[in-house]
Amino acid sequence: MLDIPKAELHVHIEGTMEPEMVFELARRNEVELPYSSVAELRSRYEFTDLQSFLDIYYANMAVLRTRRDFRELAAAYLRESARQGVRHAEIFFDPQAHLARGVEMAPIVEGLSEGIAEVADSGVTAELILCFLRDESAGSAMDTLRLAEPFLDHIIGVGLDSAEVGHPPSKFTDVFERARELGLRAVAHAGEEGPAEYVREALDLLRVERVDHGIRALYDPGLVDRLRREQTPLTVCPLSNVRLGSFDHLSQHTLPRLMAEGLMVTINSDDPAYFGGYVGENFSAVREHLGITREQLRQLAANSVRASFLGSERKSALL
Ligand code: HPA
Ligand code: ZN
Repeated sequence: MLDIPKAELHVHIEGTMEPEMVFELARRNEVELPYSSVAELRSRYEFTDLQSFLDIYYANMAVLRTRRDFRELAAAYLRESARQGVRHAEIFFDPQAHLARGVEMAPIVEGLSEGIAEVADSGVTAELILCFLRDESAGSAMDTLRLAEPFLDHIIGVGLDSAEVGHPPSKFTDVFERARELGLRAVAHAGEEGPAEYVREALDLLRVERVDHGIRALYDPGLVDRLRREQTPLTVCPLSNVRLGSFDHLSQHTLPRLMAEGLMVTINSDDPAYFGGYVGENFSAVREHLGITREQLRQLAANSVRASFLGSERKSALL
């Protein structure tokens, strides 16, 4: 299935930083790590829920300091993904987490853009989606959007990530409205650990064009009907959902039910350096453990191209 052309629509660039790179950047930037080896760091990747992952995800980010770091991070992710059949990626980044350490918006956004440009000759394209941290205030999100305004040429849209429960989409209605005024597209994490109601809020208040995760929509039959009718894409991340405890084992994942309901489902990696695989490994895993057929994998890959923000010509070329 590596040969099937696909788009990746749900990946956090900071979550693509492999343990080896964490150590390399720590050395280069003289950041002290609380681990003595790559193996010790990797042994900490046993998560019980989203927050237990986020704690180590934010801690590791401390090594990302310079334009070069962001460039190398994006290029490494895209090279590996291109090997797995990804022809286009829409990549999340978390500027607030870097601004808090004194890293400015310019090296973040321009560094990531340089990384994307560096791999263009391998035929893979990418766009950037600025994510607001939902466990920070709406004011902080608005300030971040203002800081991003000089760089909007590099940014296709906004998203919403980090700790979900207790931080409903409604908190960010004004920020998303401002983002839309600036011509940005909108997506949001909803229904990963939070309730189906958050998916409804993301659709109605943030007017998102895709829902990231969305797995908990299945608890609300009326919402499932709506998602089917509107063919709203869900960016599902199977290995992530297992590693963060939504399902005990991949064989219990509700991906087959989401597909049987006629929803517009895509398969993505979320944070591949932490969850055991890039998009190709996610495709292989659902084939092996959920009985997803090769034909269905083709459908999932085609969905990812259709659900992307690519123009119609490039979509047609990839379908
Ligand atoms: N969920 C929410 N926020 C995140 C995630 C996730 O899976 N990964 C990185 N930030
Ligand atoms: Zn995510």
